[in-house]
Amino acid sequence: MRVLVVGGGGREHALAWKLAQSPQVTKVFCIPGNGGTATLPKAVNMPMLPVDIPGISRFAVVQGVGLVVIGPEAPLALGLADRLREQGLTVLGPGQAGAQLEASKVWAKEFMQAEGIPTAPAQVFRELAPAQAYIEQQPLPVVVKVDGLAAGKGVTVAQTHAEAVQAVQAALEGKFGAAGQQVLVETFLPGQEVSLLALTDGKTLYPLLPAQDYKRVGVGDSGPNTGGMGACAPVPWMTPELIQRVEREIFAPLLAGLQRRGIDYRGVIYAGLMITPAGDPFVVEFNCRFGDPETQAIVPLLESDLLELALACAQGRLAEVPAPKWKPGYATTVVMASGGYPGEFAKGYPVRGLDLAEATGALIFHSGTRRERNQIFTDGGRVFSVTGYGATLEDALTQTYAAVKHINFTDSYYRDDIGWRLLRQQ
Ligand code: AMP
Ligand code: GLY
Repeated sequence: MRVLVVGGGGREHALAWKLAQSPQVTKVFCIPGNGGTATLPKAVNMPMLPVDIPGISRFAVVQGVGLVVIGPEAPLALGLADRLREQGLTVLGPGQAGAQLEASKVWAKEFMQAEGIPTAPAQVFRELAPAQAYIEQQPLPVVVKVDGLAAGKGVTVAQTHAEAVQAVQAALEGKFGAAGQQVLVETFLPGQEVSLLALTDGKTLYPLLPAQDYKRVGVGDSGPNTGGMGACAPVPWMTPELIQRVEREIFAPLLAGLQRRGIDYRGVIYAGLMITPAGDPFVVEFNCRFGDPETQAIVPLLESDLLELALACAQGRLAEVPAPKWKPGYATTVVMASGGYPGEFAKGYPVRGLDLAEATGALIFHSGTRRERNQIFTDGGRVFSVTGYGATLEDALTQTYAAVKHINFTDSYYRDDIGWRLLRQQ
């Protein structure tokens, strides 16, 4: 079977790598892929944009693609999955209606409130004065979120009322374009964050291993938010009992709510959870896709054939295949970024040391690279996602950092404390 992976980051490299291992897969097209997928066995990069809906649709039909896996949120929010399904293609990824869970935080909040899914109380505002009056009544910190997609920059955890009001004002004045025309002002939830992703065909749902994402750019979780600087899986304190509670209290009403709205959701649902000090799970956000870099830590632990699972999910017969099986042990991912990221950064630097890094046994997923005449060049803010494996979290981190230390490019930056929150708890 020919498979198409839409996207060009570390998440898509990990998905393409795993799909290519299926004996049923003959070819993996990557749109656009990157310098890593360029040399992956069975894989071929296609220079097209992930949001080129007519182009991708035509390509998939002409090439007789048997499964399309959509990585990023932007094409999902634009309805790529719907257009592909109209052409008779089989797709892992929700349509535009289901993608609203991520693309509109107001829609998702109203959905959660209607379905009784535990989440922080929030109010929606379209004008500054009522937002300001409301904010001034709230305890601190208080959270301001723009409604639409904002590449991870739309959330402000404000330590003062003035900071919250400023965040609302900036959004309503157009800092995020149409995405900021509505804002949510939300109660701050204390606790531990965990990402629980699940595969679902809208009827059956299989959780993946829980993962923890290190979002801030700086050591000790300081500095601005990024797309994610590292990840660990699984999370030891996410016990089977707690996962079952999330399935019962969050995923079950989610599926019921989608069905009630006539939304046929086939893909990944990503629950960004806060586990409060009392041990209760709350939804901080939903994403309608695999996480990045969580996927680079989760997928290497998957023992099952990803094609089999993804295909059954996309065809609405997930119940017919067994739940995912996992390797014991831990995987940890460290993101190597271009200096300056998530602000301005330069790209186009040659990369050295990849052979030595691979010889450590770690997996080197490319996040933002391109390949030219057998040389890899940096080509994005996040450049590599290096994943190590081990029987313990410490062993996994040792392998990961051993590989990271071999990879060299001008102004490279990475956090040297990925996993610290989990290590501290052990
Ligand atoms: P989001 O983009 O919704 O994941 O928000 C980004 C980050 O802001 C989350 O990963 C949390 O660390 C934090 N955050 C968002 N909402 C809340 C909340 N209600 N309480 C505490 N922290 C939050
Ligand atoms: N790592 C966070 C995300 O994928 O949204």
